[in-house]
Amino acid sequence: MRTPIIAGNWKMNMNPEQTAEFVKAVKNDLPETTEVESVIAAPAVDLPALLENAKGSNLKVAAENCYFEDDGAFTGETSPKVLKEMGVDYVVIGHSERRGYFHETDEDINKKAHAIFKNGLLPIICCGESLETREANKAKDWVEGQVTAALKGLTGEQVSSLVIAYEPIWAIGTGKTASADQAEDICAVVRKTVAKLYDETVADKVRIQYGGSVKPANVKELMAKKNIDGGLVGGASLVPESYLQLVNFN
Ligand code: G3P
Repeated sequence: MRTPIIAGNWKMNMNPEQTAEFVKAVKNDLPETTEVESVIAAPAVDLPALLENAKGSNLKVAAENCYFEDDGAFTGETSPKVLKEMGVDYVVIGHSERRGYFHETDEDINKKAHAIFKNGLLPIICCGESLETREANKAKDWVEGQVTAALKGLTGEQVSSLVIAYEPIWAIGTGKTASADQAEDICAVVRKTVAKLYDETVADKVRIQYGGSVKPANVKELMAKKNIDGGLVGGASLVPESYLQLVNFN
């Protein structure tokens, strides 16, 4: 009953021209949104081209980040209010690259989640452990902590509609995918955490993605897992053919 959601995360790749070409190449072969939601998260500079070219198609649009204020003296930031006005659907927050390189804290991510809902957008909230944390056998506690902090103060209704992406840092861009069982294991922890914080109904509704070297060759096995409802895909989402294979995984 949860609609699968496959989102490409382009990171800081692609320019507006490449964006337009990509969308033209995929737009007529996307699954119905009731079967699989196809999303692309693009850099802010590419969003106008993405939105313009995706018009009338099944492609949904995500920003890769935003700030938690709507406007003001915040040089270089992106307003969630303006993202909504532009027609964006989702905003990815808490990606490990944002946490790591740009020092975003759990508190920032929680503020962003509130700002995103206030503006009528939906967050895709990332969580995931480092190799060090995994090797110390602390991955479950770590992810539970990140999810708990990110959701602080959100209503059950809001949490039912959002997406949580579990992305183990050691599997990102390394070609080293978590095995489907390892991914399922932590995605189950994410769902249990939501059940503990809210209830089973909310936990049944929240969609959980796995991210980390997802590609056409492993998407089916990952998507077959009970607690995995989608993928957040970096490298393999940059090429139209492989993006289409991912969203048409079934
Ligand atoms: O957000 C997607 C991500 O970080 C995974 O990247 O290149 O391993 O699919 P990649």
